[in-house]
Amino acid sequence: MKHFILKELKIHALLFVLFISACSSPKHIKGAVVSAREEASAIGVAVMAKGGNAFDAMIASDLALTVCYPNAGNIAGGGFLVYRTAAGEKGSLDFREKAPLAAYADMYLDQEGNVIPDKSLVGGLAIGVPGTVAGLYEIHKKFGTIPWNELVQPAIKLAREGYLVTEKQQKSLDGKKEDFIAINGKETFYAQGFKEGDWVKNEALALTLEFIAKNGKSGFYSGPVADALVERVQATGGIITHEDLLSYAPVWREPVHFKYKDLSIYTMAPPSSGGICLGQIMKMIEPYDVGQYKHNSMEAIQVIVEAERRSYADRSLYLGDPDFVNIPQDSLLDMDYLNQRMDSFSFEKATKSTDISPGTIVWDESEETTHYSIVDPMGNAVAVTTTLNGSYGSKVFVEQGGYFLNNEMDDFSSKPGVPNMFGLIGGKANAIAPQKRMLSAMTPTIVERDGKLSMVLGTPGGSTIITSVMQTLLNVFEFDMDIQTAVSTPRFHHQWLPDIVVFEPALFSQTLIDSLKNKGYDVKEQYSRIIGRVDAISISENNTITTGADPRGDDAAIHLYK
Ligand code: GLY
Repeated sequence: MKHFILKELKIHALLFVLFISACSSPKHIKGAVVSAREEASAIGVAVMAKGGNAFDAMIASDLALTVCYPNAGNIAGGGFLVYRTAAGEKGSLDFREKAPLAAYADMYLDQEGNVIPDKSLVGGLAIGVPGTVAGLYEIHKKFGTIPWNELVQPAIKLAREGYLVTEKQQKSLDGKKEDFIAINGKETFYAQGFKEGDWVKNEALALTLEFIAKNGKSGFYSGPVADALVERVQATGGIITHEDLLSYAPVWREPVHFKYKDLSIYTMAPPSSGGICLGQIMKMIEPYDVGQYKHNSMEAIQVIVEAERRSYADRSLYLGDPDFVNIPQDSLLDMDYLNQRMDSFSFEKATKSTDISPGTIVWDESEETTHYSIVDPMGNAVAVTTTLNGSYGSKVFVEQGGYFLNNEMDDFSSKPGVPNMFGLIGGKANAIAPQKRMLSAMTPTIVERDGKLSMVLGTPGGSTIITSVMQTLLNVFEFDMDIQTAVSTPRFHHQWLPDIVVFEPALFSQTLIDSLKNKGYDVKEQYSRIIGRVDAISISENNTITTGADPRGDDAAIHLYK
């Protein structure tokens, strides 16, 4: 109880505002931040309360997640922003990690050409060149209205004064303690055995953030912060150099845009597979009018699973970094092609993934990621998904800097046909090359209806990201759920290979599962995990804002009131 009171006091001290209450009438909500941690959401709302826009709030919330959500929040990872300005302009920023200059296609293979287990997952060689700080700084240059230095201050304060460990966080830290020690030694910061209710004060990270506050992007990519990073990467077997850091730059990209009934959906383009796969799956589902079936009924699940199967097969062949490979995006989203893909679907019997190869296209020439959604009082909206890939990334901790380094190199296909940590199979399009970006599944998404902002959403979950975003969209627009119910309701997942349908444990009836098995679907009931942690904001036709924070995590929606 004492801890809860302390926590309340702490958060209220942090906000400096009276605007925030979780129980006021939704019709007075003017803005909102929904993220994996209450502290990060509150910090973003506090920025908006003093006049900042959604982009300012993004920068402050993102850096706060680095402090209080160290398994995925990061300054040494990467991510994607999809935005819609109040004026209706849409865009996206790719601040995905890149392969170091010294990377090469076979770097995770032994002499016989077999993948060396864990080499792309744990330790220095697993680390991609981080993009987060460059991304945030770029966003600030284009859209920021509050000085950069001011936006970094709340994260510095949080690191210095501490954040409260939750029950889920204690479990997560306990589960990885041995890995932290194996890589970083017994004295490493996060092997202290923090318990629920403890305050974590990370002075090393406060100092790093102070440097970034003062020097912007170059505070991370050059000088003492960069020196410590390069030294730590190389001491743990990695190949990142100063040249890698200095040459990193984020890229503004056109978002993937597709229509689903009367919705206009904007989502992330390659190097994320998220947008193209979300578009393919929803366009394959559209002709079946899935809303005519009951939510999570056998028929609805069949249509969705079969569309997922076909799209993930295409993902494996065609998708990679668009700066390195040609991606037939228009053909992959073409309605004739997608209808043809679903020709072999029948309600009578499951298609077998062995019978589904990636489609033939005529060429014209991480579980541990985090997502947050923000809408500001002016009507700007941002959807941001950011990641270290695995939980606490490569487990390599920069002691002097107070942060973990990513293991994003595992998102490349180390060897075509061999699955990565999410079981995803990649092809040559996603092979490793110097300075190439690894394929992602992150799917930050913004929906317009009748030309107006309608929804902002996304989720972590590795390969399950795309299917979780898609189910949340269908829950609202086909199954008429309010946004919180749409986020909370049980989910399932299929990704072509392995050819199994995964259901969240104990939430689907045995009768339904038996019926699917009778149709030939392989259902792994003992395979139990939560699927995604969606954080979403809905804006009704009369501009009423409502929020959905996923109860599967410690996620929290904080509102800004008039
Ligand atoms: N590392 C998870 C993703 O990018 O999809």
